[in-house]
Amino acid sequence: MTIYEIPEISDGVFLVGVKDWDRRMFDALIPLPHGTSYNSYLVKGKDGVALVDTVNPGFEDELVARINQVGELEEIEYIVMNHAEPDHAGAIPRLMELNDDAILVCTEKGGEFAERYYGIPDERLKIVGDGEEMALGGKTLRFIEAPWLHWPETMFTYLVEDRILFTCDFFGFHTAFGLYSDESESLIPESKKYFGEIMMPYRSMGKKAVDKISGLEIDVIAPSHGPIHRKPQTIVEAYRSWTAGETRKKALVAYTSMWGSTGSMIETMVETLKADGIEVVLYNLENSDVGDIAKDLVDSRAIVLGAPTVLGLMHPLGIYASYLVRMLRPPLKYGVLLSSYGWGAGAGRVAQEILGKTGIELVGALEINWRPDPEELHKVVELGRQLAKKIVS
Ligand code: FEO
Repeated sequence: MTIYEIPEISDGVFLVGVKDWDRRMFDALIPLPHGTSYNSYLVKGKDGVALVDTVNPGFEDELVARINQVGELEEIEYIVMNHAEPDHAGAIPRLMELNDDAILVCTEKGGEFAERYYGIPDERLKIVGDGEEMALGGKTLRFIEAPWLHWPETMFTYLVEDRILFTCDFFGFHTAFGLYSDESESLIPESKKYFGEIMMPYRSMGKKAVDKISGLEIDVIAPSHGPIHRKPQTIVEAYRSWTAGETRKKALVAYTSMWGSTGSMIETMVETLKADGIEVVLYNLENSDVGDIAKDLVDSRAIVLGAPTVLGLMHPLGIYASYLVRMLRPPLKYGVLLSSYGWGAGAGRVAQEILGKTGIELVGALEINWRPDPEELHKVVELGRQLAKKIVS
């Protein structure tokens, strides 16, 4: 167990959560090069104490030790569950076993999840509605429904007197390093990556949440992953743009190539787009980080997918990238497919099957037999110019 200083982020408000330096994957999907943190906050009022969110399973003892450094576990009356996913709620059963007077505070949907997933009995739940307040004596918690960020039960908790908004996953990012985001050079790129991985599929709900909190006086946003925002304007404005689906004159090019045929078409496409003033980000799918691709999907206007046909289907890395795009629902407007084949094409059909209902306009698809000759590469140039025109229009 690691013991380190407990930051008091405001009078009587302590960051008692833990850092997970060694975690390298999330959801068996998302790489975590810098680990992550599970931020839990102890709020001490004159008449009551609440804990806002908990930590990942396996860190229960460390959380309890940290609570006991600045208070006592037994004095916690309420555990607020902003989100039921185990990285924030996984320690709840253990805490409620150790403190059998504690009551779990959550939304109605959160109550269902707490019962079914964590076995919390009905009599130990306090269901709160949108705008409801709880007085702790000089500390008032106001609960703000903010569903589908990124599960249906999510809410924010606003500490009225201190103007602190506890947002759990929203506005967070994965790193075990740092206390305040204004001290981190990677605030925007890492937040954007996190947004792309977690929140982008729920952009419309994210936009509602950003609009909903716009009337609140917020001095600090305290998420449950990564650093705390004591200058919240930067991250709120970034989220305003990302949730609105604002895109740049930018194309994300993701490809794989077996013997260089698809690769040479991709090179021609990249040079054409760049010559026409388009910002291009290039990912070779053999060695690309899913998080980086997710980050660039947040504000790309077009995607160029390059993958050959293998055994009548698209190369599996192309299929993986196609499903990633479909799943993350980025604000892409235009798409192009470049492919090559030996004795039978098939990649285009697979791309259409996976991406056909995403709303991305297919500007063109070229499936070339064997190696592209100069005339065929000229067709790639023409397609690139056509795509560039669409992107800048
Ligand atoms: Fe950080 Fe959705 O859990």
